Amino acid sequence: MCGIMGYTGKADATGRLLAGLRALEYRGYDSAGVAVMDAENRVRIVKTKGRLRALEDRLEKCPVHGHCGIGHTRWATHGAPSDANAHPHGTDRLYVVHNGIIENDRELRAELGARGYAFQSQTDTEAAACLLDSLYAGMEDPLAALRAAVARLRGSYALGVIFLDHPEEIYAVREGNPLIVALGEDGGMIASDIPAVLRFARDCYVLEDGEIARVRADGAEFFDRDGRPVCKRPERIEWSTEAAERGGFAHFMLKEIHEEPLAVRQTLGRYVKDGLPDLRGAFDGECERLTMVACGTAMHAALVGKWLMEWLVRIPVEVCIASEFRYNRPVLSPNQRVVAISQSGETADTLAAVRLAKSLGARTVGVVNVPGSSVAREVDQALITCAGPEISVASTKAYTVQLMMMYLTAVQLGLARGALSRERARQIVAALTALPAAIETAIAQSERIQRMAACFDDAENCFFIGRGLDYPGAMEGSLKLKEITYIHSESYAAGELKHGAISLITRGMPVVALSTQEELKEKMRSNMREVASRGARVLLLATPQTAELAGDAEEAFILPDTDALLTPATAAVAMQLLAYYAAVRRGCDVDKPRNLAKSVTVE
Ligand code: M6R
Repeated sequence: MCGIMGYTGKADATGRLLAGLRALEYRGYDSAGVAVMDAENRVRIVKTKGRLRALEDRLEKCPVHGHCGIGHTRWATHGAPSDANAHPHGTDRLYVVHNGIIENDRELRAELGARGYAFQSQTDTEAAACLLDSLYAGMEDPLAALRAAVARLRGSYALGVIFLDHPEEIYAVREGNPLIVALGEDGGMIASDIPAVLRFARDCYVLEDGEIARVRADGAEFFDRDGRPVCKRPERIEWSTEAAERGGFAHFMLKEIHEEPLAVRQTLGRYVKDGLPDLRGAFDGECERLTMVACGTAMHAALVGKWLMEWLVRIPVEVCIASEFRYNRPVLSPNQRVVAISQSGETADTLAAVRLAKSLGARTVGVVNVPGSSVAREVDQALITCAGPEISVASTKAYTVQLMMMYLTAVQLGLARGALSRERARQIVAALTALPAAIETAIAQSERIQRMAACFDDAENCFFIGRGLDYPGAMEGSLKLKEITYIHSESYAAGELKHGAISLITRGMPVVALSTQEELKEKMRSNMREVASRGARVLLLATPQTAELAGDAEEAFILPDTDALLTPATAAVAMQLLAYYAAVRRGCDVDKPRNLAKSVTVE
């Protein structure tokens, strides 16, 4: 939610800020802006409602050049998208870009308004900028003013700040929202996330809550909230530059679907040793129960994990939507694990759930894709998946590798608890190793999926249905479709339809039936017939073992043959492609669906 970029150094600051913001646009895209110090150390502000493209257009018409600046791409929270609400916000002394929410902004506005500040926007950011300005006026020391501001601000935020009388420096502070500092050959940078700096630097420093950074062209200093210097070690960024670029694909989503075989191979490469899982001790010792916390797609991976672990391991697993975890008043015990699943590792609700679980004495494990992210750093043990940067708002490859971690966890626990023989364990891991080839086969047959996608051209509503292991898969397929096509889509356990939702079926409404489990085939056939006889267009995703159901469907896609346990992964790829092609046909902005942002860093 909102992307921050800052640069100071030898290169042209505007160009660098735009390059960084382009890579961060997935975090928010309703307005964008930059504040750049020009050669005479005057600050130039250019900002606008709309995509980054609109900002680039403005900058083409009125170029701004300089050596130091901050930039922002916004996902609105306080104040609708508009030129006035676009960041940076500031005064004649300083400018601020912000990611997060200042919870006491009303109180600050009232106080600062009474002291003569006139606000130009409806944002909480402007309250923070004016607060900082009022503190700086008395101190004239950026670090002291920032420390004093941190003591007054409530909420979660990451701020990038330039002070007009310190024209070579960028200041940054974080409290709850991600921020990194990166040092490249031609200057220093701050950014919300690694992709923004990938092309320019390989060493980055992850700010901790309450830490303040002062960044110059040739280095950075860090201070804690009491002003004491902090010695930080840089983390080496291993992701390739190309990984964060579209590389000839029409959209990041399509590129990332094509990267799934590699992501799976790399993740298995890291966590499989001698044909068996090696989860680095994350589940060693007593583990009688699991609670999984996650949001959205990651929560669907957890639901698949629950099914696998209860079937294969006979261990009770509870899945909690992270935003609801605290309201459940969770009952946790020391001999269980709380597993947080998150691509970004920055989802505010998932992070809050981890913190609550830890405060209740539980041991926590994170399945996280972004190394150095907040969840990765706060859990007792982080299992980093190897999908590389995921830019598309709709999660694809990150989901598949989350599934891989669910399989490996189930196998590892199954072995430890004696619920799985070594032979069966090796068999499942061998089947996982064959999965990338199966995914490649599914992708190679995407023409058939494109045909199916045409059935959504005029759809306003649709259902995804499945039973057993296919039910969480149906939930994920439905989420993917709705988030990028804007078709109202619901997922149902197929047997539940008759208890109410079947009344919503109308003539021509697509119903995607996911049927990969042979033993449930006949029950699914009945459910498909029930909806077809009420006018639905039944679209089937099946396996070679359930392919005979195609006779009851208008369109069918037969997934490549795999161990029946692994169909959630192949089906997910097919449904991602289905959503993708349906969205493209409907002219939707696939990578940047309306109202959404990739990292949900506000609660
Ligand atoms: O970064 P996270 O995995 O914690 O994100 C969780 C959800 O916000 C995310 O999966 C979201 O549902 C995706 N847009 C789905 O495609």
